[in-house]
Amino acid sequence: MKILVINGPNLNMLGIREPEIYGRATYSDLVELISAEAERLGIDVSFFQSNHEGAIVDAIQGAYGTADGIVINPAAYTHTSVALLDAVKAVGIPTVEVHISDPDLRDEFRKISYIRQACVATVKGKGFDGYLEALRILKNLK
Ligand code: DQA
Repeated sequence: MKILVINGPNLNMLGIREPEIYGRATYSDLVELISAEAERLGIDVSFFQSNHEGAIVDAIQGAYGTADGIVINPAAYTHTSVALLDAVKAVGIPTVEVHISDPDLRDEFRKISYIRQACVATVKGKGFDGYLEALRILKNLK
């Protein structure tokens, strides 16, 4: 089983950005943690991070025919991007939306998620462990 893990804008700044919300662990720590769980589950995992909306659309389209599942933390694009929603709908790949924090408990504008309606599940507010839960959700769909 092949899973693509996509992280959106500013998640390359994990460890530096707002540590009181996102913690002190870095993006590379996150990649390491997910890779270890993927190995345990027998999942072939790959990673993509970008600060650019169009690049993320390209990554989702690129998963067509190559990935069995997508784990995505669209970060701020969660709350703004119809393009990401349409991309997930276009490829039809089972996708889990992940957030490190719980956006529903924060600013009003974070309560909207465009991508959610195309996702099989949303995991939020569980820190980095949310990504591991997302892998297990996708694995159990198979
Ligand atoms: C986030 C929550 C979003 O509201 C925010 O814009 C992010 C990160 C999270 O993982 O908690 O950049 O997706």
